[in-house]
Amino acid sequence: MKNRRRIYEGKAKILYEGPEPGTLIQFFKDDATAFNKKKQDVIDGKGVLNNRISEFIFTHLNQIGLPTHFIKRVNMREQLIKEVDIVPLEVIVRNIAAGTLAKRLGLEEGAVLPRSIIEFCYKEDALDDPLVSEEHITAFGWASPQEIDDIMAMAIRVNDFLTGLFAGVGIQLVDFKIEFGRLFEGDQMRIVLADEISPDSCRLWDVKTQQKLDKDVFRRDLGSLTEAYQEVARRLGIMNENEAPRPSGPVLVKSDNDD
Ligand code: TYD
Repeated sequence: MKNRRRIYEGKAKILYEGPEPGTLIQFFKDDATAFNKKKQDVIDGKGVLNNRISEFIFTHLNQIGLPTHFIKRVNMREQLIKEVDIVPLEVIVRNIAAGTLAKRLGLEEGAVLPRSIIEFCYKEDALDDPLVSEEHITAFGWASPQEIDDIMAMAIRVNDFLTGLFAGVGIQLVDFKIEFGRLFEGDQMRIVLADEISPDSCRLWDVKTQQKLDKDVFRRDLGSLTEAYQEVARRLGIMNENEAPRPSGPVLVKSDNDD
């Protein structure tokens, strides 16, 4: 692979400089981490699946007029994206009680919330991404009141879109995390959706069986993560059954007289 400048390496992705100014290449790794890196593993094929699933979702969001950083997928593991300044917030949207919300408020996992709830966490690994309020966000200048309004309006649109998309294929969207960035175009600046949307950053439950089809499979050792993500991709019509990602080496092909 040709040498290119690495701009940033995160837990699941690497950003390289793009082919043109103002663009970046987003590379999806196979690394899985949970509990702020206290649990780590490499899961063959995860990056390929997340790249495809996130491409599918961002393409649809662009099509419905929701601005994102996504331009196009360029290969099995990489996307071409617009360079943005990431707003240092993890924006969580919840429809059903799970994870830290269930723990914090003593709710039963699976309880339907009275309405969708948006939460903000300050993106700072050293502090374990603490939950913060709009007061903290504006007081410390992480985003302006206008930007918070834009972010919340877009988060609700993403939730509406994703809830319908997944309901259509028998999957409940329990909650998810998204990130936003500031895109500079000339002397204009606007907030766009950035990062990724994949089973790494959503809770997805099968409607009938309540089987988990997301990163909780890894967090809670519930079986094969790749199989769960493949099931999501298959239901979305992204990959057919014969097209499992094969990132690690050749696959034995049986010849006709191999009985
Ligand atoms: P949450 O219940 O707050 O945390 P945890 O995943 O530790 O139980 O997570 C809500 C949703 O947001 C869930 O789908 C996972 C996602 N999320 C991330 O992808 N990254 C993060 O850093 C956080 C805090 C949440």
